[in-house]
Amino acid sequence: MTGNPTVPYPPTVEYVDGVVVLLDQAALPEAEQYVRCEDWQRVARAISDLEVRGAPAIGVAAAFGLALAADGSDAGSAAELLAELAGVADALIATRPTAVNLAWAVEVVVAEAQASGGGSADDVRRTVGNCAQRLAAEDLATCRAIGDAGAGLLVGVDEVITHCNAGALATVGYGTALGVIRSAHRDNPDLHVWADETRPVLQGARLTAFELGRDGIACTVIADGAAASVLRGAGVGAAIVGADRIAANGDVANKIGTYGLAVAARHHGVPFYVAAPLSTIDPDTPDGSVIEIEQRPAAEVAEYRGRAITPVGTAVHNPAFDVTPAYLVDAIITEVGVLRAPYGQAIAEALGR
Ligand code: MRU
Repeated sequence: MTGNPTVPYPPTVEYVDGVVVLLDQAALPEAEQYVRCEDWQRVARAISDLEVRGAPAIGVAAAFGLALAADGSDAGSAAELLAELAGVADALIATRPTAVNLAWAVEVVVAEAQASGGGSADDVRRTVGNCAQRLAAEDLATCRAIGDAGAGLLVGVDEVITHCNAGALATVGYGTALGVIRSAHRDNPDLHVWADETRPVLQGARLTAFELGRDGIACTVIADGAAASVLRGAGVGAAIVGADRIAANGDVANKIGTYGLAVAARHHGVPFYVAAPLSTIDPDTPDGSVIEIEQRPAAEVAEYRGRAITPVGTAVHNPAFDVTPAYLVDAIITEVGVLRAPYGQAIAEALGR
């Protein structure tokens, strides 16, 4: 482990000595343990099973999965290795459809590998490994920039509410929404976070509470159903969440329950902010209606720790994400600054299009 200067535990994801090492987020907070992936198929399984989760983190994990595939391959030529990597890329992208950072990171690595394809198989291996490591380093720097860009929005705010975990655990380190909170907390140690528990997988209760606790940032976990009354009566000055995909018009796909939080925030006059890297913005997705929403297993809703909590045979609907329309979003905080409506124009400018 190389250690992580931003949080008091090692990085969420890293590639060391031919092994992709992931902090096991399915086991937190009961156990702080690591998943050691020795082949790319294990990385793919870790993404599907939420051992690594959060849009930026799964992008970097998949990039390291490609590096693992390249290093483990005995392909003798660049062409042979590139053909193998194309298959691995498709399989990694298929693990989770909503978070665009996953496809984005895989496509960046594959494009750089192809560009180096004029050389030997070892040239391709080196390129893939270097590119994946660079994406990991950039993710950390990007999150710090998002944090600093957004901190100004929380000046004078002592109470903030968040949903899911868009923190160090969902990235290589520091986080997006929690990155903004971390940066704001530097200037205002009284800042207090209300964390929605985030049914059904409990990323808020398990992960946000874990990492804010480790960082000494005061946090109170609430049932998702308590968010509206907290917004009405607890002096909340801002709601801030991450994103899995932002459409070209500013519609935001994020963890299921985000839309309800945005509606309640607007109703109570509380600004609703989305913090995300530019890699979460998909200019090829015109609006939220065409974003594929991942459906997760019924057991996530119908069971708790392996015990049924619904009658046998009960129908379950378990979309992992929802779409918050752009008009409910007061600002999108990125590494290049704070974007405001009209988002179509602001996003195009930020992406240099
Ligand atoms: O299903 P998950 O836990 O991967 O969902 C994560 C989220 O919805 C996060 O809010 C999003 O990925 C942003 S993480 C910086």
